[in-house]
Amino acid sequence: MFSIKRLTGLEILDSRGRPTVQATCALASGAVGTASVPSGASTGAAEALELRDGDPQRYRGLGCRRAVGHINGELNRALAGQSFEQQSQLDQAMLDLDGTANKSRLGANAILAVSLAFARACAAERGVPLYQYWAGLLDQPLQTLPRPTINLFSGGKHAGGQTTIQDVLIVPTSAHTIDEALAMTFAVYQAAAELSYHKYGMRALTADEGGLAPPFASAEAMLADAVEAIRNAGFEPGQEVALAVDVAASHFYQAGRYHLGTEPLDSRGMIAQLLTWLERYPIVSLEDGLAEEDWAHWPELRAAVAGRALVLGDDLLCTNSTRIRRAIAVGAADALLLKVNQIGTLSEAAEACQLARSAGWRVTISARSGETEDNWLADLAVGWAGDQIKVGSITQSERLAKYNRLLAIEAETGLPLVNWP
Ligand code: PGA
Ligand code: ZN
Repeated sequence: MFSIKRLTGLEILDSRGRPTVQATCALASGAVGTASVPSGASTGAAEALELRDGDPQRYRGLGCRRAVGHINGELNRALAGQSFEQQSQLDQAMLDLDGTANKSRLGANAILAVSLAFARACAAERGVPLYQYWAGLLDQPLQTLPRPTINLFSGGKHAGGQTTIQDVLIVPTSAHTIDEALAMTFAVYQAAAELSYHKYGMRALTADEGGLAPPFASAEAMLADAVEAIRNAGFEPGQEVALAVDVAASHFYQAGRYHLGTEPLDSRGMIAQLLTWLERYPIVSLEDGLAEEDWAHWPELRAAVAGRALVLGDDLLCTNSTRIRRAIAVGAADALLLKVNQIGTLSEAAEACQLARSAGWRVTISARSGETEDNWLADLAVGWAGDQIKVGSITQSERLAKYNRLLAIEAETGLPLVNWP
């Protein structure tokens, strides 16, 4: 039994300087856990509601004082003095208290902050590392470490829309350890920074997730430059370092057309375009290749891509079990991008993870573009045996907090890196 003594909330700032929510959970045993919630920019329409104050005079309406007020007020009043045998009981109590389908009354940011802080406090009470506590939630042994997929070039909503597609990431497929994966990434990132300077006269200015964002002429140029950077770093593209792409297609889809290049594409045209990229570039993972509402064409995309690259759903699935069930039923994807704050409690995210696994899907545990210095994501990716972890680039401390935590977990556990599927 874990007895909550007190919950406190605090408004803090994320990596874009926007307010977000931190919670601290003190247990009667004396154990304490604090955790912070990230925030997306390229969000899916089906995400749980992040409660913002809406006061234009303060942080342009983005303040989180109301959400924090709910932690200090209603949530603390209802939950302090209560005991919970497990995480799911606390999460259910908060869902019941909120009473809405998308957590819009108390705010998913308030609820998730408490859910995470409670987890940290429970791990502390048990005297186990957070990754081990989280492995226990899914009732599974610790087996592997997730393979990092690292943002190299950024576009879309994370880089002021200078290119249409959102992220080109590298996957160090030949790395055997986190340590080796990061050293390989450093080499490619430096080569990409040099290339950006020579080709575009662009110093290493970075986008929201730390990726480089020169003014590429097109998505193809972005992909080709990534391949060139891999080669310049001394690696064989596709053999040692491959590419993953987050197309984030929902964000350039209007009235049934994809506004990618000069000519709008219909869904079939968009799929044909994606297949051309798969033929030309060593892409092993394709995230949100189609828009979140284009359900009718996702099965076609998956059928065409299966066996060549993962068909990864982010906006499409929103870490939401109902949407994942639908996607499994129609064969819309074969991999889940798991972002805990898309759904708003750890327990619901755990259910989403298990559902994806039960269908034989791969799981990528992902950060958001607005992050904090908190490193719980690394523990989650290890505890839930993520196949991949997506944290952004290897610059900026809010990203490094997670990579550095992975290095520490690797040193502590000696677990092997999961094989690329
Ligand atoms: P977000 O985007 O965190 O800005 O929503 C990340 C992604 O699309 O994967
Ligand atoms: Zn995405």
